[in-house]
Formats: sequence, C-alpha cells, structure tokens
Amino acid sequence: MDPVDLNKYLLTRSYLIGNSFTYADLTLFNLIHEKRSQYTKFTHVVRWLNHIKAIRNCTNDSLSSDALERSTQEEITVYNPLCKKVRIMSNGVTNGTSNGHHEEDTRSFPHSSHFPGFGTHAAHHGSDPDKWGFSPIVPPISLSTTFKQSAPGVYPKYDYSRAGNPTRTAFEECIARLEGGTQAMATCSGLAATCLIVNLLKAGDHILCCDDVYGGTNRYFNKVVARFGIDIDMVDPINLELFESKVRPNTALVWLETPTNPMLKICDIKATVEMVERKFAGKEKPIIVVDNTFSSPYFQRPLDFGASLVLNSVTKYINGHTDVCMGVIATKDEDLAKRLRFLQLAVGPAPSPMDCYLALRGARTLHLRMRQHESNSLAIAKWLETGEKSQYVLKVIHPGLPSHPQHELAKRQMKGFSGMLSFVIQGGKDEATLFLQSLKVFALAESLGGYESLAELPSVMTHASVPPEQRAAIGISDSLVRLSVGIEEPEDLIADLAQAFDVVYSKK
Ligand SMILES: Cc1ncc(COP(=O)(O)O)c(C=O)c1O
Repeated sequence: MDPVDLNKYLLTRSYLIGNSFTYADLTLFNLIHEKRSQYTKFTHVVRWLNHIKAIRNCTNDSLSSDALERSTQEEITVYNPLCKKVRIMSNGVTNGTSNGHHEEDTRSFPHSSHFPGFGTHAAHHGSDPDKWGFSPIVPPISLSTTFKQSAPGVYPKYDYSRAGNPTRTAFEECIARLEGGTQAMATCSGLAATCLIVNLLKAGDHILCCDDVYGGTNRYFNKVVARFGIDIDMVDPINLELFESKVRPNTALVWLETPTNPMLKICDIKATVEMVERKFAGKEKPIIVVDNTFSSPYFQRPLDFGASLVLNSVTKYINGHTDVCMGVIATKDEDLAKRLRFLQLAVGPAPSPMDCYLALRGARTLHLRMRQHESNSLAIAKWLETGEKSQYVLKVIHPGLPSHPQHELAKRQMKGFSGMLSFVIQGGKDEATLFLQSLKVFALAESLGGYESLAELPSVMTHASVPPEQRAAIGISDSLVRLSVGIEEPEDLIADLAQAFDVVYSKK
C-alpha cells in the first residue's frame, strides 16, 4: 500500500468507526512504518497523523465538521515496532513528552491472541504429524467405519467410527486445547451436543436455563425433553436473585448461553458458578453448561470461570465457512468426559470424518477471522447507533458498545466481541421484511458465524418456535433484526445497510 492509499484507507476507516482508529489500522500503520525505509523512525508516525489531519481538513465532504472536531480531541494509541505503547492525540500532538509518552505494552506482540498461544494451538494442536506413522502435516480424512482387531476385542485405539475416529480425535484435541479443557467430544450438530448433555440426566431432574437461548434449544427443552419427566425453568439470567430463587434441590443442569441469542444479554458465568457452589455446598452439584457459540473460544473461555462443560455449535464460528453442521463439548472434568464418551457411543450423534476435517481446517483461522468479525461488527454497531441512518434505528444491541447495559461485565468476562449484533428497526414487520429483502451483500438467511454476512428476523426465523408470549417477554419483536457480520470489507457492508434503509424509508 503506498502512502497515499494508506491515507485514504485510514480516512475511510476513521469515518466508518467514528473517528478513532482500530487496533488493526494502527498495526497496519506500524507495519508500513516498520517496512518502509522512509518511515523508519517513530517520529514519522506523528508526521503521518499530521498528514492525515491535513487531508481530513481538505476533505470535509466526507467528514462532518462536528466529527472532525471530535476526531482532533481523541487520544489514540499506537504501537511502535519495539512494542512500546505510545499515546498520541489524533491531531498529531503527542501525549506527554515531545517524543511521545512510552509505556510498556503488556502483550509481547501487538496482534497476539488474548489467550496465550491460541493461534499456535489452533494451527497445530491435535495434528502432530508423527502420530500417523507417515508424518502428514495435515491430518488425513480417515473414512473407515471399522478397524482391524488383532484378537476379538483387542484393537489399538478405535473399533467402530460411531465411538471414535482418528480425524475426529484430531479435531477434538484441538478444541479441547482452545477451550482450555482437557477433553472434547464432537457431535453431528450443535443441537446433538445439547442432546448428548441432556442424556446425562434422568426423569425427575430439573433444568434451570436462561430465558433467551437459541430457539432450537428452547424448542428441544420444552417440546422434547419436557416429555421425559424433566422440568425446565427458563429465567432471566441477568436477575441473579430471581435465577437463584428458581434453583431446586433436584436441579441437575444449569444452562447458560452467553451472549444470548438474539438479545445478546451477558450471563455472569463466575457469579452463577459461585451461586451454585454455595447452594450445593457439600452436595452433588448440578452440571453447569455454557453455550459459547456466540463468542467462540477465541473471545471467551467458560471453563476458566468454573463451568463444567462448554458447548459450541461448530456450524458457526469454529468452522466459519458455512459448509459444516457440527457441535462440540469441551471439559476439564474427566468423569463427565468419560460419561459423555459413553453417550457418544450409546446415543450415536457421530460427526462425519469429512466434516471433522473441514471443521479442523476452519479452526486453524478462528483467531484471524474473529478479529475481523469484531472490528466489522463494532464499526457497524457504531454506525447504526450514530451514523447517517441512525434515525431509522430505535436500539442497537452489541455488548461492545458502552450503551449495552452489561458492557462492563462483557469486558470482564470476554476478551472481545464477535460479529453478532441485533437492532430494532423503526416500524414493524413490514419495514423489517423490506429492509431484509433489500440487502445485497448481507444474505437473508438463518445461521451465523460464517465468513459471510447474514441478516435475519428472529421472530419468524430462528426463534419462530419460541411461544409468542415468551418472545414478547424477552423482547424478540417483529422489528428486531439480527446480523451476523462477516469478514467482508466494512465499508461495503455499511453501504449495503445504508441502501436498504433508503429502500424502506424513501417510500415514506
Ligand atoms: C447459540 C446456538 N447454540 C446452538 C445452536 C445449535 O447448533 P446447530 O445448528 O449446529 O445444531 C445454535 C444454532 O443456531 C445456536 O445459535
């Protein structure tokens, strides 16, 4: 990228994300700073910023004077090649001494993952070439459903592929590591993983579940599991007192999903674990499950907060390419892992080796994709909240926005935010429907977490099976639109949303 292009890029980005630069921008900035001989000194960063400001002043057409004024007030942080954190005002004035105020960066590399080694584990864990005998770098797709035995009942590791398979093991080992667990069990869908967990229960048990969960989880609990003599309560997890009051002596499973689907509420995992431990001190504790699908292990590790099991619909971020339906459960609890392995064999929700291969391949780039999902969704959330079409948006729900009621908890519990956001569009179902039909880059479709941007209307799509009165209580109205922001160029996504708003409201 030559300097002129870089200026254009930063200008566009600063416009998109409300006149502050993202970490990615500044890292790119630093990279160029590092690579180019004419920008070998840190002082050039300051020169760059002055230059950008000069360009801003003469390109007022793309930035409002108000925004420009704000942009010169903002403090931004850049990292020089020695990874020292340097704060400078975006008007080019350094904060502190004329050389910039240097602080030690707590991270060793500006773009390192939040959990130490994440990207390296994603690339290698479970794929040791030497475990195969012929040392392939990429684990083979082992399609055999059965394995030769040296004597009846004697076999090295696998006997039948419903119970286990070498490609599945490679995937499971990788995910166990990424979730900070010791074991993982893969299934043929996210819901199959839920089903496997529920198979740990018995008639007479009680499930305490947060009120806003994936519609399919709600449907499975209330329309299927309830028929087997298991009671289910669905309670607002934000109201911890109310949540606690619904715990029963026979509560065997506490089910959290966080952020929730589609309202993006944040369940306090640590506080819930502590509450359960207090209530069941000295007794057998319920299993605490966290559905981590909306965050992925890159941004949130529920096992670190004491959850017994963490579940992901692999269909979403972990695979990330919208071509595999799979689920996975990870744990540190060896006894629970043993019981779940038995259920994998006895119940039978085995994923195909082909899918395990693809999902492992997807997991390799999870950290890279999640960074882009995060910066794109934040850019869009800010634009919806304060941008040129914000008059058509009644509410934006994104845990990364300071306006989110649990923003502080989200920042404590999560290392970042995925591509998921919801917003309430002005009008009702007709406006929401026309808006969704008018999108050109976003596809109107169910699901989430893929490289591509998707948009949907939860009340008639993903959450149609939730009874209307429950939907109303949670806030899933006919004007609630859910976006799964992909990894495309953010300016194209914003332009797409803008033109769809125009289609809907130019008719008014
Ligand atoms: C949060 C969440 N959990 C679980 C599932 C179920 O996953 P799958 O579709 O892979 O069965 C979904 C599906 O959308 C989901 O959104």
